[in-house]
Amino acid sequence: MKHAKKIITVCGAVVMAWSAGVAIAGVTKPGDVKFDDTKVTAPLTTEAGDAAKGKVLFSNRKKGNCLACHVNKDLADKPFHGEIGPPLDGVASRYSTSEMRGILINAKVALSDETIMPGFYKVDAGARVAKKFKGKTILSAQQVEDILAYLQTLKE
Ligand code: HEC
Repeated sequence: MKHAKKIITVCGAVVMAWSAGVAIAGVTKPGDVKFDDTKVTAPLTTEAGDAAKGKVLFSNRKKGNCLACHVNKDLADKPFHGEIGPPLDGVASRYSTSEMRGILINAKVALSDETIMPGFYKVDAGARVAKKFKGKTILSAQQVEDILAYLQTLKE
């Protein structure tokens, strides 16, 4: 009897340790992102990015909305490419994955203090941000990794 109880306790501890491990390993929270100068080397998620999903997010007006500011010939079939930011054709030949991850997470850290490019994975979006977006990031960690996987396909 005593023995059985001990086994149950040990099992419980193992399950708890395992689920805690998954929670930590699964997704990096915005506040825990570590910049190494302008780079973020570690992926935000344990699940690899999906370039096909990233391509859709890139032109989604409510999510990435990258097209509003960036020309991208790979999406020539989509209307209204903006020209505020530099064209992203061949961007993966100019930046490493870690650099592009940094730019996506927070362009103010990775590119310039004054950039108008939104920080897609930071929570301090502004004092008067709409209530439903308070404390939220524009993109989820997985969406950042998906867009990143797509950007990696844009080579010169
Ligand atoms: C509101 C406009 C805006 C949006 C939306 C935007 N960007 Fe930008 N982005 C810029 C600007 C402006 C720059 C140039 C940096 C600067 O301000 O000096 C830039 C720079 C970049 C760069 C560096 C390019 C280079 O050649 O130096 C990358 C990569 C990039 N953006 C990716 C993205 C992606 C991916 C998205 C969508 C998730 C996105 N941007 C959304 C405005 C925007």
